[in-house]
Amino acid sequence: MAKVHQNFTITQKCELSAGYCLLHLKPASGKLPEGILPGQFVEILAPDNATMLRRPISIHFVDYNTDRISLLIRRVGNGTNAICDLPEGEALDIVLPLGNGFSEDFEAGATVILVGGGVGVAPLLYQASKLKDKGIRVKMVYGARTVDELVVAEAFKPYCELEITTDDASAGTPGRVTDSVCFREYLKEAAMVQCCGPGPMMKAVAAACKAHGVACEVSLENMMACGLGACLCCVEKTVKGNVCVCTEGPVFNIEKLTW
Ligand SMILES: Cc1cc2nc3c(=O)[nH]c(=O)nc-3n(C[C@H](O)[C@H](O)[C@H](O)COP(=O)(O)OP(=O)(O)OC[C@H]3O[C@@H](n4cnc5c(N)ncnc54)[C@H](O)[C@@H]3O)c2cc1C
Ligand code: FES
Repeated sequence: MAKVHQNFTITQKCELSAGYCLLHLKPASGKLPEGILPGQFVEILAPDNATMLRRPISIHFVDYNTDRISLLIRRVGNGTNAICDLPEGEALDIVLPLGNGFSEDFEAGATVILVGGGVGVAPLLYQASKLKDKGIRVKMVYGARTVDELVVAEAFKPYCELEITTDDASAGTPGRVTDSVCFREYLKEAAMVQCCGPGPMMKAVAAACKAHGVACEVSLENMMACGLGACLCCVEKTVKGNVCVCTEGPVFNIEKLTW
């Protein structure tokens, strides 16, 4: 699919708790590129030269009826702050869609478990909506350290059966995503688990899937610079040697990783 480089106008911005920001954007051309896949990401040029390199952000949701994309961003440094500080009506310089996507082809009626930790839930909303459209039963485990970080839990409800876990027991099932009722009772019957979040969380999910012989895909968030396979700064070791996460991923079947 051809990459597009253009300005996107911020049509709506919502500051959420815990430093999260939800942006809705429309392309200056009026038309989104066709066929954006859940799991793909954009590279954004931070305004006012806040950072030299673009910042990779997952595509949170795509609405082709209104030609609008949504991004969920957690403020962690100069780039994400500069992007989130822009007011509605301003434009962002964006390249998209980049990378590959999560698997979507399952038998109707199959169960797929989505697991998101913190801002790692970002690419899973669009995936949940696509799977639901295809008649797949979607179970979602949304993990966070504390209740304040469950910023987009409501958005998932139309598309899946949602279970929340928090490390500090402030909401949902106490503990980690692997302590969820979903994992204890439904893991064995899942056609696949698809996961995005902090590295240790994804490794724990991958280990649980391996132990039960369940297929698993993870979306890696290795540091990136060029986003185009040129600088090698996002390299991940795989069973077939080192690969660039920005071009070969970010989504990998765990069978391909050396975890
Ligand atoms: C494919 C991909 C998709 C992503 N999707 C999202 C998303 O949907 N929403 C979102 O908020 N963030 C996402 N990220 C992470 C985001 O790109 C970084 O948080 C961002 O680049 C940090 O830029 P900064 O200038 O604000 O912070 P910097 O000043 O560059 O860094 C601030 C702090 O954040 C840490 N950091 C930087 N990059 C990453 C990273 N990739 N992973 C973990 N920690 C990092 C640094 O180590 C440092 O401690 C994604 C990353 C990748 C690779
Ligand atoms: S970010 Fe440069 S090769 Fe992946």
